[in-house]
Amino acid sequence: MIFKKFFGKLNKGLGIDLGSCNTLVFQRDRGIVINESSVVAINNRTDQILAIGDEARRMLGKTPPHITATKPLEFGIISDFEVAEKMIKYFTNKVNTSRFSFSAMPRIVVGVPLDVTAVEKKAVEDVLLAAGASQVYMVENIMATAIGARIPIQDPTGNMVVNIGGGLTEVAVISLDGIVNFKSSRVAGLAMDRDIINFARDEFSLVLGEMVAEDIKKKIGSAAILKEQLEMPMRGRDILSGLPREARAHDGQIREAISKSVLKILDTIKATLETTPPELVADIYQKGIYLTGGSAQLKELDVLISRSIEIPVHIADDPQTCAVRGMGVLLDDEALLKDIVLPTSQ
Ligand SMILES: Nc1ncnc2c1ncn2[C@@H]1O[C@H](COP(=O)(O)OP(=O)(O)OP(=O)(O)O)[C@@H](O)[C@H]1O
Ligand SMILES: [Mg+2]
Repeated sequence: MIFKKFFGKLNKGLGIDLGSCNTLVFQRDRGIVINESSVVAINNRTDQILAIGDEARRMLGKTPPHITATKPLEFGIISDFEVAEKMIKYFTNKVNTSRFSFSAMPRIVVGVPLDVTAVEKKAVEDVLLAAGASQVYMVENIMATAIGARIPIQDPTGNMVVNIGGGLTEVAVISLDGIVNFKSSRVAGLAMDRDIINFARDEFSLVLGEMVAEDIKKKIGSAAILKEQLEMPMRGRDILSGLPREARAHDGQIREAISKSVLKILDTIKATLETTPPELVADIYQKGIYLTGGSAQLKELDVLISRSIEIPVHIADDPQTCAVRGMGVLLDDEALLKDIVLPTSQ
């Protein structure tokens, strides 16, 4: 069959989840081989790359003027083409050399956001080809995520997936391997971190770093009241004196600080349900909705959602890796890949 020839065997294949916060790589027969921050540190004087991934992330906010730690993706979209290419090359080379080297360039399954433009799609394709891919198969991130979460999307029933990442929240209703309805918003984990930074500045005259804010969110942040109270020190810089200072934060304050973002996520889910055909809504109410993405782990988020819209809510296993594991499934399932792959400019 032509199709078989066209796709060949994806045995040299990689799945790449390019996220606003994290980049994950799945290698066929090996599983997840890269799970690192989407950050690159560059020396502006020499244009040299100093670090990529988690190591570069640790430099965020701590670099001297001639070094910049940048994120090549914003809201799930490539915002810095050159840096993105360098980052992808680095990660794919790391995979290639760690066990065996590729005789040929890898075929790559990659995910893109739902409301991506043709230009943004082309950028993803071009960046992967520039980084050495022989063939690029583009799918919607949310489809890969649903597959990775083992949601029966091929059934003729409504399945609702809510992926809450760093830059984006994507909500989709999937039936018969196709997206029936969706909404997305640029409010997700990073917006919560910003809420916490604003709260510390306004209430404590304290300037927090991005990583500190994220740490507070993960440890004591929540969407609804917790069974036990939590608190922790927030270390930052005093706005007036410029000196390091510490203040204590309680779970109630952090819950209040991030509530605006949490409510926006809730509104996106509600708006999707409101515009979904009634037969599918009935299925969703019966089966419940599935939360994926790193921010699905925010404490009590499932509780808040299920209470607000009176619907069962399931958090997928290992929610942060669903998308890349779904790409792993696609590397093995040519028929499914053919069914959902997006047209490229090739
Ligand atoms: N335990 C936790 N509690 C709350 N938030 C968390 C937790 N663990 C991770 N996160 C958040 O999850 C987000 C990262 O999720 P994920 O890796 O799915 O995003 P991404 O794919 O990089 O971004 P996007 O899909 O939006 O482009 C970060 O904002 C991080 O702070
Ligand atoms: Mg993501």
